[in-house]
Amino acid sequence: MNKPIESLRNAISFPKGVAYLNWASQGIIPNGSLEALDSMLKLRGRTDVDIVGHEFAATQKARELAARLVGASSEEICLTMNTSMGINLAAQAIPFEPGDDMLLLATEFPANAVPWHNLEKKGIKVRHLEAAGRHITPEEIESQIGPRTRALAISFVQYYDGYKHDLAAIGSICRSKGIYFAVDAMQGLGVCPFSVREIGADFVSCGGAKWLVSPYGTGFCYFSPRMLESTDWLPGCGWLAFEYIGHDFSSIINVERRAFSDARRFEVGTLPYHDFAAFNHSVGLLLDVGIDVVYSQVSRLYEGLVAGLTGISDITIVSDLEPSARSGILSFSSPDDAGLCDFLKENQVFVAHREGALRVAIHGFNSTGNIERLLTATAEFISRVRLRIKPCRNRAIRIVND
Ligand SMILES: Cc1ncc(COP(=O)(O)O)c(C=O)c1O
Repeated sequence: MNKPIESLRNAISFPKGVAYLNWASQGIIPNGSLEALDSMLKLRGRTDVDIVGHEFAATQKARELAARLVGASSEEICLTMNTSMGINLAAQAIPFEPGDDMLLLATEFPANAVPWHNLEKKGIKVRHLEAAGRHITPEEIESQIGPRTRALAISFVQYYDGYKHDLAAIGSICRSKGIYFAVDAMQGLGVCPFSVREIGADFVSCGGAKWLVSPYGTGFCYFSPRMLESTDWLPGCGWLAFEYIGHDFSSIINVERRAFSDARRFEVGTLPYHDFAAFNHSVGLLLDVGIDVVYSQVSRLYEGLVAGLTGISDITIVSDLEPSARSGILSFSSPDDAGLCDFLKENQVFVAHREGALRVAIHGFNSTGNIERLLTATAEFISRVRLRIKPCRNRAIRIVND
């Protein structure tokens, strides 16, 4: 049976009066995860335990939990240390030929652009997708796939306004056109339901530091069965990509070795095991509640935020409110976004100022009180701007309903 959503809120020590709505920048690491990290790290100071056994158990568990998050099997997951590592693996594993091209939105977060542009040095062209409206549609993507297009890379959720792409429709187009499909899932996993089987992606890369409320240094990448079968050249290669046939670590030189047949062959060397111990606790918390339950809670809070913002003059909601396009991120603009962001921070409401709007990132750890606090402070700021009162620098407003 799933744990109640309240178990998330209880997992973090939020100081009274703080509304943390900035998960799209950094997740807050739950107390139990910090303890798990600490326990694993402390093993490094001991002489009387099988440290490696504990460490390898932690990474195997991390692959299993990551697999559950994306609806894959653990053999299809390799651990990385951030999103960019996985995207680089994808970019290098796709069998591009000089003269091929790949498609990308010009508005991608650079983590999902730089590794692809790096291919330009090998004669691969990166073409920017063009959309008539604010967001690209699957039909527009289909019409821009050309005879030399080999791949498409896109974010699950756009980092600046939270637009959730229809990955099932995009994946189906990629399959019908025979092109590789790579997904940067950093801004959606942990808060939005996701299934690789439904979208048919070849690669999904995600870091743990945001919505997965895990330490820096954690991440993973999913490889589809066809990529696992076809990638015999290792885009990054290291000793832990291999099994040393018939041997444990007591003998690894001058013995036959073979690259793992599963996605572990894309892991290259020792990993931050203590960080993965924390990742296991954090992702376990989310999965125990259920990502669909987290998403329902977030959707309820999102609804309340939309209703409240609509009632405040001079506020424009930037995000697409179509239900299927909603994620944990809602962006809005005001007459002075930078000023409002600072004012909110002074009042213990944490959001981010991104690409000409305020980005509110709501997770299952949040409460109605957090949204009310954001709305009250925003209304206060707007009324001060309208009355041309300098928004209080030193005097925090009093807000009930924490
Ligand atoms: C869509 C997206 N991908 C990736 C990242 C981060 O990449 P990495 O985990 O490699 O630091 C971010 C934000 O920092 C992001 O918004």
